[in-house]
Amino acid sequence: MTTVIKFPREKALDFYRHQIEIKKAAQLIQTGGLVAFPTETVYGLGADATNESAVKQIFQAKGRPSDNPLIVHLATIEQMDKWISDIPDLAKRLMKHFSPGPITYVMRHQGGFADSVTAGLDTVGIRIPDHPLALALLELADVPVAAPSANRSGRPSPTSASHVAEDLSGKIDLILDGGITTVGVESTVVDVTEGIPILLRPGGVTLEALKAVVGEVSVDTNQKEQPRSPGMKYRHYAPKGEMWLVDGDDMVKKIQYISQEKMAEGYQIGVLTTEENKDKYKSTKTVICGNRSQPDTVARQLYDALRKFDTLGVDLIYAETFPMTDIYLSVMNRLLKAAEGKYFIK
Ligand code: TXA
Ligand code: MG
Repeated sequence: MTTVIKFPREKALDFYRHQIEIKKAAQLIQTGGLVAFPTETVYGLGADATNESAVKQIFQAKGRPSDNPLIVHLATIEQMDKWISDIPDLAKRLMKHFSPGPITYVMRHQGGFADSVTAGLDTVGIRIPDHPLALALLELADVPVAAPSANRSGRPSPTSASHVAEDLSGKIDLILDGGITTVGVESTVVDVTEGIPILLRPGGVTLEALKAVVGEVSVDTNQKEQPRSPGMKYRHYAPKGEMWLVDGDDMVKKIQYISQEKMAEGYQIGVLTTEENKDKYKSTKTVICGNRSQPDTVARQLYDALRKFDTLGVDLIYAETFPMTDIYLSVMNRLLKAAEGKYFIK
């Protein structure tokens, strides 16, 4: 059975008032249980990263391929010393700016994690989330917490407790409900084992922000054949209908044209749109994903929007696209995966 504990929606967590509930969650982690908890990016599914059988249960609950390593979550930067013998200077510089926050550092570890956490790699991804409930849980658990996104493998990551329940109810012990997550896309994953950081997955910390701190950042483009971040090779974030991306100055017109044509052929059409364009697509099932002029709102609503299509029963989805800059780079990375790279070209 899965228990859900609901927390108030205020920004700062009154740790003292809620310590009984958080302690219960921490004890579950310490005794090998699975606890879903909110972070600023998406909900994570946490287990003690040193407990092999607990970590194995994460893979089982998610239906996750075993060659895909998990991110380890810690409460403070200081705790890293216990797991990483030689934190690269590059990592230290980035941490000063971005941690706690939506960024994961891939570094060489010195052992101690359950084998399935690292999938046999000599590196591990470590992150300090910027969320009061997550930090309180990590502090009380007092063990490193392995936590992938708390969705069934292949489904969009969860940005609310009800998304977690949809995918994992009955399979995990506890869900800490802290409301809707603020960033909405996962953390940026950077490999800091070499002189120049390698961006493995765009996320909450933008490429522009990384460059502003360290100058050069290289972007891992070889993700199909031999991805350095194993998770990037799998189909992901996929809604049930077949999704096509639409771009160009005449994006709206192209969507209008193709949806009319496909509707005439008898297909149910979904359109992923934004506040600005929501009234432009007649007779289609539109899902609004934020406000184009406020990129953060698009990122925040993206996964909820993708999940909505599943309940609408559409055959084809045409999605508006965004420029490949700032947080939109992450949004486009996820949309490209959801659409398996397909663009509609007229
Ligand atoms: O925002 C997030 O990062 C969320 C929250 C819960 O913290 N977690 C998350 O975890 O997105 P997950 O498991 O869904 O994605 C982890 C990504 C995968 O693409 C995985 O391949 C990559 O990080 N990764 C983990 N360890 C790695 C390593 N040692 N080397 C390269 N990539 C790694
Ligand atoms: Mg994930």
